Amino acid sequence: MNINWYPGHMKKTKESIKKNLSLVDIVYELVDARIPVSSQNPDIDDIIGEKPRIKLLNKSDLADENMNLEWQKYFEEKKIPSVLIDAVHSRGLKELQDLTYTLTEKKRKNLLKKGIRKRPIRIMILGIPNVGKSTLINSLSRRKGARVGNKPGVTKANQWIKIKGDLELLDTPGILWPKFEDEKVGLNLAFTGAIKDEILDIDTLTIKLIERLNNLYPEHIKSRYKVEIEGRSPYDIIMEIGKKRGTILSGGEVDFSRISSIIIDEFRKGKIGRITLERPTDF
Ligand code: G4P
Repeated sequence: MNINWYPGHMKKTKESIKKNLSLVDIVYELVDARIPVSSQNPDIDDIIGEKPRIKLLNKSDLADENMNLEWQKYFEEKKIPSVLIDAVHSRGLKELQDLTYTLTEKKRKNLLKKGIRKRPIRIMILGIPNVGKSTLINSLSRRKGARVGNKPGVTKANQWIKIKGDLELLDTPGILWPKFEDEKVGLNLAFTGAIKDEILDIDTLTIKLIERLNNLYPEHIKSRYKVEIEGRSPYDIIMEIGKKRGTILSGGEVDFSRISSIIIDEFRKGKIGRITLERPTDF
């Protein structure tokens, strides 16, 4: 495995995140709605501490709608506020901003009581690579556009983007590392594209994906690829899909790697259907 998160790097990242955390009033913790547990950082509670936090189930457009609701219920039971969002299409952002106001009410009142001039509520985004941090920053800032950085004394690392009335977002998100020592977590991250090519070759990855989908969403495979899956191995199913799609090598054999890449790509783009790979009942 090619893991970039060696301990020295983790320590530095943690320190810089903690420094930035001290500047903000609330944290938006992004996870992938298809794999809400695998896509979170295992030390997140320790890193965030007592700071108010909202769990953002991003890419909810790609996830199973019923499971989205189940996951929200799960986090509600754990007293973690959550919002379903789709950062690409700016869905869920109004609810997110309303919740931000609600969760920071006490803080705002305290500031006023202390006689501190009304200052904006400051937010930072945290999440593992590819979970949608930059997309969310763009979606949030497009609404009200103006950057409030670029002033003397405001370093580039600390630019604040005005996102609404009195909400400001730190334009540098905190990048956390996923934990992929557990095989299932590693696979979930690879299927969804959070990590690419780090753990497995594409052929094996696709076999594992089809195996998983056969258990969780057999109807999706049947309806997308029009193949019979009962009694067949994932390998045979992929070969059949390859034949149907005409991904054939010059010798007449199915080009297994090509059809595998196509299947993985279609899965990541949501073309096989809305799929959630982790269920609250597993935790
Ligand atoms: P990051 O800053 O956390 O690393 O993630 P980034 O915003 O770059 O997003 C990673 C990929 O996820 C992008 O795809 C982005 O469009 C997609 N994405 C982010 N939020 C959502 C969402 O809510 N729904 C959907 N469907 N996609 C989302 P990309 O540019 O195609 O990147 P890649 O897949 O080629 O790496």
